Formats: sequence, structure tokens, C-alpha cells
Amino acid sequence: MKVVVVGATGHIGSYLVPRLVADGHEVVAMSRGERRPYLEHRAWEQVDSVQVDRVAEDALGTFGEHVASMRPDAVVDLLCFTVPSGRQLLEALVPIGSYLLHCGTIWVHGSAVEVPVTEDVVRRPFGDYGVQKAAIEELLLDEARRGTVRCTVLHPGHIVGPGWVPVNPVGNVSLEVFNRLAKGEEVALPNFGLETVHHVHADDVAQAFVKALAHPAAASGESFHVVSGRAVTLRGYAESVAQWFGQPARLSFQPWETWAAAWEPADAQLTWEHIIRSPSMSIDKAAKILGYCPRFSSLEAIFESLMWLVDNGKVDAAGRRLAF
Ligand SMILES: NC(=O)c1ccc[n+]([C@@H]2O[C@H](COP(=O)([O-])OP(=O)(O)OC[C@H]3O[C@@H](n4cnc5c(N)ncnc54)[C@H](OP(=O)(O)O)[C@@H]3O)[C@@H](O)[C@H]2O)c1
Repeated sequence: MKVVVVGATGHIGSYLVPRLVADGHEVVAMSRGERRPYLEHRAWEQVDSVQVDRVAEDALGTFGEHVASMRPDAVVDLLCFTVPSGRQLLEALVPIGSYLLHCGTIWVHGSAVEVPVTEDVVRRPFGDYGVQKAAIEELLLDEARRGTVRCTVLHPGHIVGPGWVPVNPVGNVSLEVFNRLAKGEEVALPNFGLETVHHVHADDVAQAFVKALAHPAAASGESFHVVSGRAVTLRGYAESVAQWFGQPARLSFQPWETWAAAWEPADAQLTWEHIIRSPSMSIDKAAKILGYCPRFSSLEAIFESLMWLVDNGKVDAAGRRLAF
């Protein structure tokens, strides 16, 4: 198939593009060309890289036609955050029959009622990002269920991989938390540390896209959570990281207001965004319909990322040899 990947050189694309090439697809990789993929791979030599500013072309109303003009069999849209942007691409693809795979987020769900959360529950998103993503999901799946187009929506959790900082055991991306755990120093957690985060390795997200691409008849008109097998509690996460560094976990617990006051507002806000949702998502549907089978547990994905942070001098493991 000819597959256009929009936003191809980021966390997901770095793994997805080599997988698509390996499967024999003709790949067009769209981005502004401002960065390299996280992973060097010879597959990129076989890819047609197209430089585009999607935001600028969306505003001009030309992006949908730009993509459609390449006559793709399928489009993987990793870069859609508003309904008008989603609609523009959708309307351009309907006449040519391309299969549209959209990247959503588990934040289409707000706070959960029952866990693990399944895809069929009523969406109760809050915050502009989750609200927009839920509205895009509704737009695309409604259209697919009407039979005018094939669309699938995949909802990743917190994406992890070597090359960037994973959401940490206090629910933000401060490296200091990992450094303190690595040294056996005390880390304060909000509340009782029993709120959850739900990571996924970037390659597992790529796996899910490849499987959805291979099963359009079963996947079209559907959305799927794409996360690791299980979420982790902040406390369990912190203990596991300390143990991985060969240190005792010295944890303390503070009521939310006390905890948040000790952090920069942006860090505290990011923690709040994660723990107010405390995601714990089911992957049963993706496993059953797509054959999705994550290679990494949450902690395995995190340890691989930590290994990269240590090797690149961002986390100090005090000379310890580590393995994941
Ligand atoms: N990161 C997470 O933890 C997470 C969790 C859940 C869902 N998601 C979803 O995942 C998707 C993002 O995927 P990702 O994390 O792989 O992305 P990413 O790492 O942020 O990479 C973004 C990609 O898009 C390109 N890009 C950025 N702005 C662009 C523009 N204006 N025009 C054209 N290309 C542009 C970037 O390359 P250039 O900079 O060179 O243009 C890059 O290839 C989003 O739909 C997001 O909602 C992410």
C-alpha cells in the first residue's frame, strides 16, 4: 500500500515508519523536517520525505487536498488536534477511498467510573486537548459507520521510549525525581501515591497502527486503547525505579495542596493533569480484534527509557551497571 504518515519523525513515527517499510509498504513521511527520528534506521532511505507545515496548510484549507493529491491507500494521522483539521483531511480522503487511521489519546476519557476502562464507555473528557480528541473520534467513527469512508482511531497512553523523558513517578517529566530515586534520596508523592499512570512503548503504538492497517474490515469504525498490559500506581512505580537503581525507596506522602505548593506551577499542573485522570485502560478489544500484543510492560518500557537517560548523562546512576 501507499501509506502517508503525517507527523512521521516523532515518538510514534520513529518506530512506525521502519515497520511499514519492512512490511513492504510505500511510505510518504510528512513533517516540517525540523528534526530527525529518535531512531536511526536504514528504512528512512526508502521513504519519500515531504516537508510541510500542517498547521499553516490547515489554515489555508489546502492540507487535505495536499495529502489526497498523493493518492494514498492509507493515511496515518499523528498530528490532528482539532475538529476542523480532522474534517478537512476526512473530506479530502472520502472521494479517493483512502483508509484513515487517526491517533487519539486516552484523554478522550476523563476520570473513570470502572477500571480498567473499556472503549465502549461514554466519553466524559475535560480540558481542551481531550475534548477536541473526543470530538474528532466521534466525527471520524460516525462517518466510518455510515460507510462513506474507512477510519480507525487509536488511543495511546503516555508514550515511552529511548530518547525522551517518560512521565515519572510523580506524574510530571522532571528528571530530578529519577535522579533522587537513583541516589536513594527521599521523594514526596502526592496523596497516598495510589493514583495511576498508564504508559505504552512507542513501538507498541506503532505495532497497533500496523495491525489496524492490516485489518481495515475489522478495525474501521472502531477505536482502540493502545497502552501496556497494566497501569502502575505512582507508589509502585517509584518503588520499582528505586529498586532498579539498587536503592531503597525513601518515599513520603503529602496532601495534594502541600505537595503542589513545593513545585513550579507548570510541573504541578502536569501532575494534576495525569492524576486527576489516573488512567487504567483495557487493551482487551485491541488484543481481540487487532491481535495487539504489547512487547513491553509499563516498567519494561520505562527502564529502557531510563537506560537511555543514564547513558546520555541525564540521570546519574552513580556508576552502577544497569539492565532492563
Ligand atoms: N506523546 C504522548 O505521550 C502521547 C500520548 C497520547 C497520544 N498522543 C498523540 O500522539 C500524536 C503525536 O505523536 P508523537 O508523540 O509521535 O508526536 P511527536 O513526537 O510530538 O512528533 C510530532 C511529529 O510531527 C511533526 N510536526 C510537528 N508539527 C508539525 C507541523 N506543524 N507540520 C508538520 N509536521 C509537524 C514533527 O516533526 P517536525 O518538528 O520536524 O515538523 C514530528 O514528526 C498526537 O496525536 C497526540 O495526541 C501522544
